[in-house]
Amino acid sequence: MEQHLADLLPTFDMPPALLGAVQYALAPGGKRLRPMLVLLSAEAVGGVRDDAMDAAAAIELVHNFSLVHDDLPAMDDDSMRRGRPTLHVQSGEAMAILAGDMMLSLAFEVLNRNVDPERASRLTRELAQATGCMIGGQVLDTVGSEWTDSAAALEAIHRRKTGALIRACCRMGGICGSADDRQFEALTQYGESIGLMFQIVDDLLDVTRSSEEIGKTAGKDVEAGKLTYPGLYGIAASRQAVESLRESAERAAGSLGGAARPLTELADRLATRTR
Ligand code: IPE
Ligand code: IPE
Ligand code: MG
Ligand code: MG
Ligand code: MG
Repeated sequence: MEQHLADLLPTFDMPPALLGAVQYALAPGGKRLRPMLVLLSAEAVGGVRDDAMDAAAAIELVHNFSLVHDDLPAMDDDSMRRGRPTLHVQSGEAMAILAGDMMLSLAFEVLNRNVDPERASRLTRELAQATGCMIGGQVLDTVGSEWTDSAAALEAIHRRKTGALIRACCRMGGICGSADDRQFEALTQYGESIGLMFQIVDDLLDVTRSSEEIGKTAGKDVEAGKLTYPGLYGIAASRQAVESLRESAERAAGSLGGAARPLTELADRLATRTR
């Protein structure tokens, strides 16, 4: 996947400075969870990895666009990401905004090459809807939500800002692997559970780990007054929520049989991750 992402970028026409910024944002160092999910979901339903590589790259591009913009001064104003200066610190705000825009655009170009039109159209709709949902979640998280009930607001924010893209990874993998309706539904359930779980764990890491461990500024959420699981429910109850989402993800993966075993193992690792 690292090679696939690295080889992809120079094939597109853009000014060298923009290419450099996109390469910086996309350089190795991330967990590559989203591509992994696309590939494992395709395999879980009997598909092959090669048919899912471009979809996996496309969603990693959208994810990295979301991170670069998430870190901007107008949003979370973060100076560290994956143990390095954020892109706007490195190359300036204008370049960070434009490199983010470029990654979003490249994602849809990559997604639509080398794939038959019907599949391309399903994948495009899936990624476009999930990206829109993520952006809506970022608005609720950053600008504010209209909910008066904080529990409802919190779940809505997390399902949108993080859950939507993770759910889409599983569904896009399913599309690439020609999942039937029952398999597609199981992948969707799995993706929804680990998607919410992933952001609860992210919130927990923000309050329980150091910046060195997580590669980004720890303690940011409290400082910025963000609505988070540990903030609203405490650490123990947040861990319990992680546990119950892990179980529901594993039930969904279990219903897919032996080929989905790696998805079960991945849910386990994500529940106990430390970065
Ligand atoms: C960070 O995502 C942003 C969230 C949605 C919580 P990751 O934790 O997947 O970041 P990388 O890609 O591994 O750096
Ligand atoms: C990130 O949420 C959500 C998106 C990037 C869409 P956070 O703001 O908690 O992510 P980190 O902690 O900066 O990685
Ligand atoms: Mg944020
Ligand atoms: Mg942030
Ligand atoms: Mg966070």
